[in-house]
Amino acid sequence: MRHLIVPSVDTQHWLEVLKTNNWLVSGLGVVTVEGGEKGLPLAEHAPQEDNPIWLGFAHHTLSREVNKIKHWSDLLDRDLFQQFEQYWPRSYEMVGDVLIVRLEDEVKPYQNEVARAMLDRISSARIICADNGVIGEFRVRDISPILARDDNFSTLTKIRENGHNIIIDPAKAYFSSRLSTEREGNVVAAKELANLLNRPIAISDPYAGVGPALPSLIATEGLVETIFAGDLNPDAVELLTDNVASFVSKSNYTFDNHVFCMDAREWRRDQKLTESTDFLLVNLPHDTIDHLADLFPLMRKETKSLIRGWAIVERQNLVVIRESIEKKLIQHGAGEISLTCKEIKGFSASKIFIRIESWQIFS
Ligand SMILES: C[S@@+](CC[C@H](N)C(=O)[O-])C[C@H]1O[C@@H](n2cnc3c(N)ncnc32)[C@H](O)[C@@H]1O
Repeated sequence: MRHLIVPSVDTQHWLEVLKTNNWLVSGLGVVTVEGGEKGLPLAEHAPQEDNPIWLGFAHHTLSREVNKIKHWSDLLDRDLFQQFEQYWPRSYEMVGDVLIVRLEDEVKPYQNEVARAMLDRISSARIICADNGVIGEFRVRDISPILARDDNFSTLTKIRENGHNIIIDPAKAYFSSRLSTEREGNVVAAKELANLLNRPIAISDPYAGVGPALPSLIATEGLVETIFAGDLNPDAVELLTDNVASFVSKSNYTFDNHVFCMDAREWRRDQKLTESTDFLLVNLPHDTIDHLADLFPLMRKETKSLIRGWAIVERQNLVVIRESIEKKLIQHGAGEISLTCKEIKGFSASKIFIRIESWQIFS
């Protein structure tokens, strides 16, 4: 069984990451390996070793008494199981208590059998949904509920990330836990900016989705002066509004917060939003590069500011893209620019997922 190998002192942190994402095999416990490091048993569907979420920590295969654990597929009729052996799903995703599974065409007629077995075996799952991909400009998942405990077919659920509860509905608004490490990086960068400026900062997250980037920022005492958060998907904004209210109610200092249902490119037309942001998040990976220049007018002038964005680009275009962003920054009056475009993971054979981080002073 695959195990994540971490230094002993980091065990609790990684246990929380694994539990939050449902990547921990329950009932097996942590093992001590050679050199005193700890081995945490990983579920089949946990990301592979080369995923940046593991921060370079190794995965080792260690033998455990796995025979004692029954896989959900053990509960399928044996003849049926053997007939379609290579088609049964090998992985699934847990979003809160919503289990999302992609079914091959061959086994779609048996989706009820799969869902029944999963509900019986996977106690953390309340509802089993078939995954039909992603649809529309808001990149919402097309999921169809198959079976649910107590006939509770709602896909509204709650996840815990970096110690914070976030309400999500995977059928209505985009959410992915894959950027959770990036969200921690946002806090480090925001603190650095606030330290430099020696004051709380105004943070804009115009593609906020349900708002997963916000709780850790808000929870950092004294960090925030104002939060401007928004999304174009009205369903996402409904959840975002509730989440922001909940994050704010748990914070122990006061700051302004505003939530909008608006196209991010239109924010610059609103007077209270122009030249009001110290720290801007741009998370629309397929369009970030195109939207960036329309967001520059949001940045405060004559003071250090920070932009962190995420984009999917052709690997071979990375240098050109960095140069084009720098050019746009200069055209919009930015100076003292420190700009990096860093690959954070692969996306396809030729495309990569990058983080754009730019520190500058607009004048
Ligand atoms: C990749 S998701 C990121 C959501 C969130 N920041 C997160 O990390 O989970 C992009 C979000 O941008 C929203 N969106 C798409 N086009 C938009 C636009 N023109 N203006 C504002 N939001 C937009 C989508 O509805 C979606 O929620």
